[in-house]
Amino acid sequence: MKITALNGFKDIVPGEVELWQKVETAARDIFSRFNFSEIRMPILEKTELFARSIGETTDIVEKEMYTFIDKQITMRPEATASLLRAYIQHGLHVQKPVQRLFTIGPMFRHERPQMGRLRQFHQMDVEVIGAQNPRVDAELMAMGAMLLEELGVTVSLELNSLGCPACRPGFRKTLLDFIEDRYEALCDDCKRRSNTNPLRVLDCKNPSCRAQVVEAPSIQEHLCQECSDHFAVVQKGLQQLGVSYSLNKFMVRGLDYYTRTTFEFITGDLGAQAAVGAGGRYDGLIEQLGGPKVPGIGFALGMERLVLLLQQKKGAETVQGEMDLFVAGLGETASHFVFPLVHALRRKGLQVAMDHEGRSLKSQMKQANKAGAHYVLIVGEAELEQGQAVLRNMDDQKQTDIEIGTGIDKLSQSLLEICKPLDKFSDILTKRI
Ligand code: HAM
Repeated sequence: MKITALNGFKDIVPGEVELWQKVETAARDIFSRFNFSEIRMPILEKTELFARSIGETTDIVEKEMYTFIDKQITMRPEATASLLRAYIQHGLHVQKPVQRLFTIGPMFRHERPQMGRLRQFHQMDVEVIGAQNPRVDAELMAMGAMLLEELGVTVSLELNSLGCPACRPGFRKTLLDFIEDRYEALCDDCKRRSNTNPLRVLDCKNPSCRAQVVEAPSIQEHLCQECSDHFAVVQKGLQQLGVSYSLNKFMVRGLDYYTRTTFEFITGDLGAQAAVGAGGRYDGLIEQLGGPKVPGIGFALGMERLVLLLQQKKGAETVQGEMDLFVAGLGETASHFVFPLVHALRRKGLQVAMDHEGRSLKSQMKQANKAGAHYVLIVGEAELEQGQAVLRNMDDQKQTDIEIGTGIDKLSQSLLEICKPLDKFSDILTKRI
């Protein structure tokens, strides 16, 4: 019987992995433009870390974590908690008052798998720790928007403020009063939630609950003065940076640590999995985890969802690989001769491949084409005796006789001479040889 991957766990195979690399390269580029440094944390953490940060009564902690119960350790369901744990453990606040950190990697949640929702998924997560200024909130959202725009992904940005411990309890009470009259029409989950975390009733996906909360009070109108001022500057900042957004009073997020600004990048192209990325401010969390009293804000982008969106774009199903040179040795003697040459060219920095199975020229040309080789060096037995070979430029199909002599030096020199006038790749070859 064949063994397959677990449900909700996915291989990322060649042909697909190039899109992942594209997404990651674009992200690393943008994150460095915004002065973020990379941090990497382990996948396993003490269960308590997530219970204390994400919240005991959240769906993630209640039902979705991969936990080794006997050891009380959990495979991280998100990156923020682990990153803050590392920030505190290494005293990173002492090094810099404001830390701008990012991390990229797999997260684990036992959810029902569907398009864009996996049990092992990947996030690109950024956090700014130590900055209170609302302009930072705007800057972060603008960075996310810039990355998505550069990747060619269209999303809308939805924004809310969840207030702070001073104003949220008041809103919670107002909301509970509102919910009370509609309690019987709510789904079982929301009935339960109205006791533990009534704000979550606002973002229930159940159509009947949605209908009930249309007229619900907006937290944006119940913010204390500080939160209200903060929210106003966040919006002003977004306007200054030309980032369009819409206010969404129903967005409350599924993690308990948020205060003030929360936001989501939403797409209409992935069915139910509308959020490509999401985040917000968590001003009390670091202290709550035993760290210094510093504020924080961040967001995470879901890589599977980003890749799906890129795949949906016309003509972008696969990104073709590229290679400088394919060396086609025809027959055993030629293969024996080119074997160390290929190695020496790789040592010089060229991306080179050869066939080891004694295949025909036609079949080797096919391989070269598939690999995206810019040049193919064809070494036949007869030509080899005269120290000659043929170099074919795969982009314009021009063929040139080339002197290969008896070793790498002659070959390198000939490649250089010939590739130089041929085309744009001569630059690469010139530099590397
Ligand atoms: P989150 O909303 O739970 O937030 O996840 C962020 C993003 O990760 C989602 O918008 C989605 O794109 C992706 N994602 C989440 N779950 C799955 C899944 N099962 N399959 C595929 N993609 C998924 C957080 O995790 C927060 N830590 C974000 C944050 C950072 N807040 C502050 N800093």
